[in-house]
Amino acid sequence: MAKESLTVIDNRTGKQYELPIEDGAIRTADLRKIKLSDDDFGLLGYDPALLNTASCRSKVTYIDGEKGILLYRGYDIEDLAENSNYLETAYLIVKGELPDEERLAAWTHNITMHTMVHENIKKFMTGFRYDSHPMGMLMGTIAAMSTFYPDAKDVEDLQSRRLQTRRLIGKLPTIAAFAYRHLRGLPYVYPQNELSYTGNFLSMLFKMAGKYTPHPAIERALDVLFILHADHEQNCSTNAVRAVGSSLVDPYSAVAAGVAALYGPRHGGANEAVVRMLQKIGSVENVPEAIKAFKSGEERLMGFGHRIYKSYDPRGKIIKKLAYEVFDVTGKNPLIDIALELERIALQDDYFVSRKLYPNVDFYTGIIYQAIGFPVTMFPVLFAIPRTAGWLAQWAEMVRDPEQKITRPRQLYMGEARRQYVPLIERPEPADREDKVAEAI
Ligand code: CMC
Repeated sequence: MAKESLTVIDNRTGKQYELPIEDGAIRTADLRKIKLSDDDFGLLGYDPALLNTASCRSKVTYIDGEKGILLYRGYDIEDLAENSNYLETAYLIVKGELPDEERLAAWTHNITMHTMVHENIKKFMTGFRYDSHPMGMLMGTIAAMSTFYPDAKDVEDLQSRRLQTRRLIGKLPTIAAFAYRHLRGLPYVYPQNELSYTGNFLSMLFKMAGKYTPHPAIERALDVLFILHADHEQNCSTNAVRAVGSSLVDPYSAVAAGVAALYGPRHGGANEAVVRMLQKIGSVENVPEAIKAFKSGEERLMGFGHRIYKSYDPRGKIIKKLAYEVFDVTGKNPLIDIALELERIALQDDYFVSRKLYPNVDFYTGIIYQAIGFPVTMFPVLFAIPRTAGWLAQWAEMVRDPEQKITRPRQLYMGEARRQYVPLIERPEPADREDKVAEAI
């Protein structure tokens, strides 16, 4: 039988090493055995942006990027989007199994009991400027929550982890809705616990003076979108939650770091960027010209491409279908025609085909959110709410994993060798100082 190991010859010394292979990986730490001499530090793996480094073992989410497969705890995303609801999927992601009826009822009750926020959180939020980006408000408020729940510091205690998980999943929609009402200058609406998770969210967002009943098709569409965004294994924001959480800080601080990572336009901020891009393109006739700009590298076609998917993002397919179900209620968002034309041309163009750039989850979501009535700045917030379940599941997995330690990568030092401080008046003028200083921040 073939040996599960890798034989390496160091051509600098002629020495041979055998590195064990486990689960399709070598341990990069084993490279340290490869040394020039006894006092040599040993070989490092260099992997900027962690393109080929597994940083953990995880049982939460499986992705096959070539085949476009996404599974939460073994269940197909299409299956869950069709048959589950967000709170049940969140249970699956956090606990590892689908709940029975009793457990689902208890979980739903426990989350619902935590939808209210402390009045001082409300006061805290009124301090944001009238035009603050809601993602900034969300990030700041989640970080501030750590000061309201000092018991959250006990991250190694199972009961504390459970309580913070319920609080975070329960309160995120409330904070997000308060951020929206703040933007609009409207009074904040308190949670209504007889409504569903997304129904209550819609009520806190859009309720005016009279009674508010969420439209069932919009409530369900939002629920499906929440299922699709609930986890995505080791993406930028999950990695941020795990890395920050590895210092054993409380989960509010770790999740705030996840929100920060998600905010950027290459990650969860892409849904906002897509709609801004479609608005800038303006009409279907302008699409060929826009494609030229994307191919020249001047701009990126937002909502296209993915680090892991090298075929159609399975979530994108579901979202495209969902868009028409929403339009049946809201009327068509005309931006969809520009998006469809972009997709049609890009999927035939060698630039996109050769780089395996397909529409990702963010390509059509913004068009739906806009049709429902959300301002573009709310779009990344709509990604952050459901991703909280994934972040917390991954955070708890990290805290419980005996192999995990504080995240602390190595570096390849490329700076100056040791040199002596020179007093200001004796300092010579290095020829390249201006260039060096100009390159720094
Ligand atoms: N438009 C035009 N060219 C692109 C795009 C794009 N959207 N994405 C990648 N490329 C090109 C890129 O210029 C590079 O070309 P070359 O090999 O000639 O230099 C090649 O494709 C590989 O790109 P990369 O930046 O090395 O790929 P990556 O795996 O580091 O980046 C990505 C993945 C998602 C950051 C990137 O595709 C991108 O910026 N897409 C647009 C932003 C976006 O939609 N983000 C949402 C991602 S999905 C939701 C989420 O999880 O956040």
